[in-house]
Amino acid sequence: MHKVGFLGISGIDNTMNEGLAYGSQIMINGDSGIGKSVLAAQFVKEGLDCQDTCIYVCCDEPPAATRDTLRHYGLHPVPYEERGRLVFIDAYSLEPEGKYYFPADDPLEKFLALESRVINTVNGEHIRLIADSLSTLLIGRDSQEILDFHRYRLKLRKKCRILTMDLIVDEVIEDTTFQVSSHLYDVIIKLYYTGSPDRPVRALHVGKLRSGKFDSSQLFYTIDSNIGIVVIPNLWG
Ligand SMILES: Nc1ncnc2c1ncn2[C@@H]1O[C@H](COP(=O)(O)OP(=O)(O)OP(=O)(O)O)[C@@H](O)[C@H]1O
Ligand SMILES: [Mg+2]
Repeated sequence: MHKVGFLGISGIDNTMNEGLAYGSQIMINGDSGIGKSVLAAQFVKEGLDCQDTCIYVCCDEPPAATRDTLRHYGLHPVPYEERGRLVFIDAYSLEPEGKYYFPADDPLEKFLALESRVINTVNGEHIRLIADSLSTLLIGRDSQEILDFHRYRLKLRKKCRILTMDLIVDEVIEDTTFQVSSHLYDVIIKLYYTGSPDRPVRALHVGKLRSGKFDSSQLFYTIDSNIGIVVIPNLWG
């Protein structure tokens, strides 16, 4: 039986029945500050706990800031980095700092080549790849280029059975391009605020577009300062 992966957030994992096959592709979408990077940190923690190798592409902040977030949510990244179980690709800094560096306005083919090189370099039977946020890499690029990139990249990653999580900030990508891109993913988790403007509540929705096997109703959540995203149990069942 093939291994399956989980996010590491029980209230969401419960909605996914048998878990995610390696090769699945998850899009996390929502406004700035809603909790995408926190969710990604929990996904990394879960991956490392279950012996996966994690590759984290930092597009919005330097790897040092992501290390801080991981630490904040209970994961000490450096020992994993030393053992090659956690690898950062720096697509943020203006000057190369770490081993893997991508200047954000370089052609997307170069990014694909670097990502593939890192995937081929890391050792590990099961790999998780997180791009935080992929939308930043796509700013200012032509729609056709974005769609071609998405199609080709996700096909490659599926073929290699990589569990991919792409974070997409709302409204960074033009609407039609976003809609078409979103159909390429197996799972979409949308994070948003609901409730009244003076008392906003965080909520999420898990959708699977292809097989339609799961499609959650609205789940409310909080961000616990130690754990990260915690889904609030639905008291009405
Ligand atoms: N390193 C951290 N230390 C303390 N709190 C944090 C940390 N990272 C995130 N948080 C908390 O979690 C909330 C969600 O932040 P998060 O970084 O996940 O948002 P995001 O959706 O990734 O936003 P953006 O699109 O701007 O990157 C923040 O408002 C903050 O309260
Ligand atoms: Mg973020």
